[in-house]
This record gives sequence, C-alpha cells and structure tokens, in this order.
Amino acid sequence: MSALFSPYQLAGLTLENRIVVSPMCQYSAIDGSATDWHIMHLGQMALSGAGLLILEAAGVEARGRITPSCLGLYSDDNERALERVLNAVRSHSRTKLGIQLAHAGRKASTDLPWRGNKPLTNSAAGGWETVAPSAVPFAEGWTVPKPLDRAEMDKIVAAFVKATQRALRLGFDLIEMHGAHGYLMSEFLSPIANHRTDEYGGSLENRMRFPLEIARAVRQAWPRERALGVRLNGTDFTPGGIVVEETAIVAAALKSHGIDYVCVSGGGNSLKQEIPVKAHYQVPFAAEVKRRSGITTMAVGMIAAPKAADGIITSGEADLVALARGLLDNPRWAWHAAEVLGDELKVVVQYERARPKLWPGAKLVRPALHA
Ligand SMILES: Cc1cc2nc3c(=O)[nH]c(=O)nc-3n(C[C@H](O)[C@H](O)[C@H](O)COP(=O)(O)O)c2cc1C
Repeated sequence: MSALFSPYQLAGLTLENRIVVSPMCQYSAIDGSATDWHIMHLGQMALSGAGLLILEAAGVEARGRITPSCLGLYSDDNERALERVLNAVRSHSRTKLGIQLAHAGRKASTDLPWRGNKPLTNSAAGGWETVAPSAVPFAEGWTVPKPLDRAEMDKIVAAFVKATQRALRLGFDLIEMHGAHGYLMSEFLSPIANHRTDEYGGSLENRMRFPLEIARAVRQAWPRERALGVRLNGTDFTPGGIVVEETAIVAAALKSHGIDYVCVSGGGNSLKQEIPVKAHYQVPFAAEVKRRSGITTMAVGMIAAPKAADGIITSGEADLVALARGLLDNPRWAWHAAEVLGDELKVVVQYERARPKLWPGAKLVRPALHA
C-alpha cells in the first residue's frame, strides 16, 4: 500500500487515506445558509475517495463572512440548512466530514469573485462594517476596519464557541479554524495587519495571544477525541509579514493547547505578496513547521501529481495532503491516483463499471495514467 493511501489517526478520527478535500468557498449560501448547490458540490466531493472532506470557511458571525453569499454557522437557520445538506451527503457517502470555522476580519464584506471581488464599502452596496486588530485597511479603497476592543474580542471568542457547538450537533468529525490567508486570526498573527500596542500586538507572543484564546475556547467546547486543527500561513510571502520560524512557534503553542494538526498555507495579508507559484510551493513550509514543532501537518498548494503527492508523505514532509483546484478540475483524482500507485480504492457501487478492470475504455480517456 502506498503512503498516500495508508490510514491516518487524528485524535479519535481514523482517516482511510491521506487525501483531504481542501476547504473551498462556494459563494452560494443565502444569509449564511447552505443551499442545493452545496448538496451538488459536496455530494461529488464526498464521492471523490478522499479520506476527509473539509467544508468551506463558515463565518462564525454574519460580519465575519467574506461575501454576502458565504456560508455561515451563526444562526439556527444556518444550522438547519447545513443539516439538510449533510443528511443528503451522508445518505450516500461515508467520507469523514470537517468544517472550517472562520472570521474574515478586515477582508470581510467583499463582492463575489465572479463579480470582481471588490470591497463592498457601504450598506447600499450590500456591505457592512468590518473589524480587525487595527484600523488598517487591507488595501487602498478598502473599508477601514474597526479595531477590536476586549468586549468585542470576547464576543468573537463566544461566536467561535457557539459555532463549535453547532458543528458538534451536526456531527462533524473535525473542525479546522481558519488562521491563514489574511483573515481575522491571520491578521492578529501578521505584523502587516496587526499594529496594536497592547498585549495583542508587537512581539509574536502578543500577536498569537488572541488566536490562542480562540483555539483554547474551541478546544474546550469540542470533545478531545474529535480532531481539531488550524490553518496557518507558513509565510505571508511579503516582506515584514509572518515567517515560517514564527509559524512553527505558533504551531507548537497550538499543540500544547491540544490542537491536533496545522494545515500550512500562505499569503493573503497583502496585495504586495509575491508568491512563487509552482508545484508544491508551500510544502517546504509544512515540512519546516512539522520539523520544528512536531505537530501533525497538512500540506496544501499545487499538489497534483499522484507520485509526488505520495512522496510528500513518504519523505515525512507532511502527514496529509489537501487539494483544492485539482479536485474541482478532476473530482476523480483520488481514483486515478490509486491506479497510478497500484492501490485499491473502493468506489460507490453505482460507478463501479467505470473502473479500468471493467471498462477497457479507461485507457482511452486517461492516457497519461496508462502511458
Ligand atoms: C474556489 C476556492 C475556494 C477556496 N476557499 C477556501 C476556504 O474557504 N478556506 C481556505 O482556507 N482556503 C480556501 N481556498 C484555498 C484552497 O483551500 C487551497 O489552499 C488553495 O487553492 C491551494 O490549493 P490548490 O493548489 O490545490 O488549489 C479556496 C480555493 C478555491 C480555488
């Protein structure tokens, strides 16, 4: 059996293989509530053969959504809508399900990607007031966020806890907190967005204080046997931003607070970022965080070739690999990866006739795999 298709134990959760569907916003919710689109999208991802499917960033409060159409987990309606979607998905798939809990901070209140992603700077445009560590807008022309005071920070911690309780009632196997990509937790961690002079800004110890408060509160509300992780930026890819040595210290602190894994991503705190986009461009950061902190890591970013993905696991650079666009492009990626690596992957009975041993045409539609 290849390393990619070997099982992995994360707290009380047994994953059948190391492939993770990375969280992907669908911008298809109404007032934070999941819709039929989510049944369509998650339905196909749940049949992908990945060991774990992490649902998109769900705002823990309405103003923590990136766009007005982002998923939320802040109301009874949101919870009910997600229950309907999960019931449909679970009726035909046993894939383990996680959800990413998020607060978009100063990058909230933006328009949909297919309408240009522009900030919605006033209520007439459908926007709302944003909050952040400091009154520093993400970029020119963006809303100046309201800096969070202690009372507001307490409310956000409480919102994360409330959303965790909802996730528990919904039976999720895993929660991932979104601490990357320049959203609220990442804003606190990054000197680019965090200009505070109180005990929440300045030194790394201070910058990680609020994200750790959130993580601790969520850990207390989420049973120990259920897997809990945080997505972090290995780097902001911007001078003056967070660097991997700091991320490793944050990961070690999270580990000591009972967090089971970190997913190491990057970028999103500044438009000045320069990302050296190429295959596996973020894997070295995951490896470094793992080496320094000893925590379970998930690597993400341009992972697409099955043998190379397997290599990430065998080399010990990361324990799990998450794919986003590769799975949108080819939801059967894991099936094909299993073929390449000589592994057996059980697929739903309805689709069994597309397996190469039952269908010689497989060689025609997947020439690269059979070359
Ligand atoms: C449509 C789309 C939506 C995304 N939404 C999220 C999200 O909700 N949370 C998150 O942490 N990352 C999100 N991402 C980033 C992906 O999870 C992933 O980290 C990134 O696309 C790099 O992986 P890839 O090269 O396999 O696509 C999104 C990416 C895409 C393409």
